[in-house]
Amino acid sequence: MTQQSKSDPVIALRGIHKSYDDLMVLRGVDIRAHEGDVISLIGSSGSGKSTLLRCINMLEICQQGDIQFCGEAVRWSGDGPGRMPADQAQVVRMRTQLSMVFQSFNLWAHMTVLKNVIEAPVTVLKRERGEAIDEAMALLEKVGIADKAHIYPAQLSGGQQQRAAIARALAMRPKAMLFDEPTSALDPELEQEVVKVIRQLAGEGRTMILVTHDMKLARDVSNHVVFLNQGVIEEEGSPETVFGNPKTERLQKFLHASVAA
Ligand SMILES: Nc1ncnc2c1ncn2[C@@H]1O[C@H](COP(=O)(O)OP(=O)(O)OP(=O)(O)O)[C@@H](O)[C@H]1O
Ligand SMILES: [Mg+2]
Repeated sequence: MTQQSKSDPVIALRGIHKSYDDLMVLRGVDIRAHEGDVISLIGSSGSGKSTLLRCINMLEICQQGDIQFCGEAVRWSGDGPGRMPADQAQVVRMRTQLSMVFQSFNLWAHMTVLKNVIEAPVTVLKRERGEAIDEAMALLEKVGIADKAHIYPAQLSGGQQQRAAIARALAMRPKAMLFDEPTSALDPELEQEVVKVIRQLAGEGRTMILVTHDMKLARDVSNHVVFLNQGVIEEEGSPETVFGNPKTERLQKFLHASVAA
């Protein structure tokens, strides 16, 4: 196993290609997220944003390209369409350090909010139950829903459910967090509750990759913005450059359409 050095990116992707049968969705994507980076991934519907996030945590297997996590490269067996991770234990270990928050919350409906948050720390990380509960309550406090700890997800608003999902992700003490449109299923005022939590996490120096349609959020929280178009990075840079001085016509059109939406 490679030893992590201080300068290794938390996530390093090189030449990621992903196809579904004949449809080539990602055509060679490179991204590096260092500790504390907040990278926003923007692009039109179908450009491959969710697919890229799913390739990072290996919910999908990319057919070409390298993934490194804290300096450790994913080991593959086979090539092209038949390629698979060579070491399932490595995948599980990496995945537990990479929490993903989805648009649709994905809480377990039959468990209370507190149980949702402590489940993986207790069963996967083997944390002591009492400690896991204390930490979970602190996280629920942090996202502003400690008073909802003992009720079920169906009794929460969408914004509260998403904040519970974020607390659950944080309870794994991840090295990086992946967000796939965490606010887009929410009404505007509920969205703001979640945006506030994401801003707070960014301010704490957490490493995050955030797929969002919310250009204001991308501009506010990220230090790097990646514009994905038809499976390639069309343009990237600081939020000031990408939003303030877009170079390609495609990005100009995309931003124009986003403002109009
Ligand atoms: N499991 C799958 N099987 C086949 N095709 C898929 C699968 N998942 C995604 N695709 C296709 O891959 C392309 C990229 O999809 P993806 O979900 O990554 O886009 P996106 O950028 O996240 O879009 P959106 O903004 O609408 O969420 C689309 O053409 C989609 O139809
Ligand atoms: Mg998507």
